[in-house]
This record gives sequence, structure tokens and C-alpha cells, in this order.
Amino acid sequence: MEKQPTYGENFFLAFDYQLPPVSKEIKNILYIHSTKIKQSKKTFKRLQEIFPSANFYVLQNKDINFMEEDQNNSNIIYCSPKVIPDDFHQTEEGKTLNEKEIDIIFFGVNLDIQMGNIDPLNSYVANPYENILELTKNMGLYDWTVLIDNQYCVYYPWQIEVGRVNNHKPFQMDGVSISLPWTLLSPKEKETLFKLSQSGPSDGSIVNIGYFQGGSSIILAAGSKFSKREKVFAFDIEEYPRSKKFITENDLEDWIIFEKECSLEAAKKWAKKEKNGVRLLLIDGDHSYQGCKDDIQSWSPVLVSGGVIAIHDYGNISEGAKYSEVVQAVYDTILNSSEFKDFRRVDTLFMATKI
Ligand SMILES: C[S@@+](CC[C@H](N)C(=O)[O-])C[C@H]1O[C@@H](n2cnc3c(N)ncnc32)[C@H](O)[C@@H]1O
Repeated sequence: MEKQPTYGENFFLAFDYQLPPVSKEIKNILYIHSTKIKQSKKTFKRLQEIFPSANFYVLQNKDINFMEEDQNNSNIIYCSPKVIPDDFHQTEEGKTLNEKEIDIIFFGVNLDIQMGNIDPLNSYVANPYENILELTKNMGLYDWTVLIDNQYCVYYPWQIEVGRVNNHKPFQMDGVSISLPWTLLSPKEKETLFKLSQSGPSDGSIVNIGYFQGGSSIILAAGSKFSKREKVFAFDIEEYPRSKKFITENDLEDWIIFEKECSLEAAKKWAKKEKNGVRLLLIDGDHSYQGCKDDIQSWSPVLVSGGVIAIHDYGNISEGAKYSEVVQAVYDTILNSSEFKDFRRVDTLFMATKI
């Protein structure tokens, strides 16, 4: 049996770097080393495996020797990441780097991002490494920077710099204005869910596990009603009266069927229905490893071929939690299964297509 990656050691490294859709060819990679030597070596080796034909530029501390000179396809630029000066781009090293037309930056952060409070306005990581994030912005690569913490978990700068503030503001999409209760969905996640429900593949119902105040269900229902497609069935163990106001405001009483029911019970009943095909399944309920795994396994059988499974809070750290159990559950049930393909991620919304 193939060896499973272990969370906490090289769990994310095992697959995660391959997940974000890479819309350009990766020819030149900058690796900024700020982690311990052993971790830097390991990370660098993994990156070389993932991008075997890329050129690597390594920004490394002058006093630290974690790689050999002239290692395959790699070039070292010596500079301590912690003391990169503001005018780094004007220095000889900075100019050398800019000439290389870097496509993506991997930045090893010597912190456990889970530790401490992630205060979006005074971010834990952004503070000690502000200069590096500034450098990535100056290079026009802020959106192409991947942070790797000392637990080998992967983040993007926006996750630690931008809080999910003003999230209850009306959401505009295709000329439709949707009023929303408090929801943890980011703007890009909302847009993705709306589009999937409006014009996503296959036919069948839309199911939302974890309804909370109704945010995700309202978006899903607004999208499908807009294109006169399937209705949304939502399940939650709790009932949140606040959602009613928003459902009425958005004129969606006829498009969301809410049931106060545990996901697993709901799945059993659903399986017995005559027309039980689901084309879009959003799982955002129990975020424990077992809970998420059970949700995926009990609902996947009714997902139609070509249908999309979406799991929210995949690697979400915005609430100070890591939700690493969701990642592990997704790995074990979806990434490591032959039933799904086209793995992709928008912010912390993981998606896959049923084969
Ligand atoms: C993060 S919230 C969902 C947020 C919602 N999707 C939104 O967009 O606002 C998680 C919800 O899952 C519900 N939940 C937890 N365990 C569940 C289970 N076993 N079955 C159904 N719902 C569950 C919780 O009551 C909670 O309302």
C-alpha cells in the first residue's frame, strides 16, 4: 500500500502545491527560506519534484547553508529574509532577482500559523515578515506567493492579511443583488457557488449540509432560481430563525427546502428517495475529521456523474482555527479516491468532480 502522508510532517506538501489552478507556465521559482535547515531542505526537495523543469532562485540567509551551490537548476541569492531592506529591489541582489522573471514564490515561514490569535488587522505572520510580503507585492507576485508554515501547512498571503470583514453586505452577481446574513464565505467563494448553481454541470438537486443562518443556501438558491434550475435542500442540526428574513427578502421561499436534521440521517432518507440525484453538494457542517469524512462518504453515492462536490473551510484559518481535519478528511476520501477528478480550490472552498 502506498505510504500515506502524515499530517504535521509533510501532509500538505504531499499534494497541496498541486492544487491551486496554475494558469501560467511555471518556469522560474523563487524560494524564500526562513525555516529551519532541515525543513528548508525538505521543502526545497519537494518543490523540485513538483516542478522538475523549473529554474529555482533561492533567497537564503548568508550564514545558513541548507543547500549546495549549483544544485540542479538552482541559484542562490544570499540575503537574510528577515532583514531585506526596503530598497531591496534597487540592490544588486534585487535587480538580479527582478531580471529572472519569477513566476511563483514559495516562502517558508518559521512560525506555526495556527499559534496565536489571527487578528486580521494585526496579523501574526504579516508583522514579522511584512518586508517579505512587501517584496512579493513589489514584484507583482502577491497573488502568486505561497506561504509554508513550520508545520508544512500551506497558506496564501490574503489568508493572513485580509479578514472576512463586511461579509454581511449585499452580494451582487449578474445584476442580482442578494442580501445575506452573516456567513464565513469569502467574496470569491460566494461567486463560485452562485455560478455553480446557476450554470454548473449535470442535472439533479442541490444539497447544502450546514445551513447556519442560510448564507450559502441563499446564494445557491439565488443562482439556480435565476436560471430556473433545481431547488436547494439544506440540512442543519440547528434552526436559525434569522435566516427566514433573508429568504423572504430574496424571494426564495419556494427555492430552499430546509430540514432540521443531522446530515447522516438526512443522507439515509435521501438515498431512499426515488429521484435522488444530486448535481451540486456543498458540505459545510461538522468540521471534525470524522464528521467531514462521514458527510462526504454518506452523500457522495447520490452525487451524479459530472456533479460537483464542494467542501468549505478547507484550510481556513480566518477564525483562528486551522480546520486541518477538513483537509485530512478531503485527502482521505476525495483526493485519494478514484471516484473524483478535477480537484480545484477557490479560497477555502475545495471542489472536485464526480467521475
Ligand atoms: C460553518 S456553519 C455553516 C455555514 C453556512 N454554510 C454559511 O454559509 O453561512 C456549520 C453548520 O453546520 C451545522 N452542523 C454541524 N454538524 C452538523 C451535522 N452533523 N449535520 C448537519 N449540520 C451540522 C452547525 O449547526 C452549523 O450551523
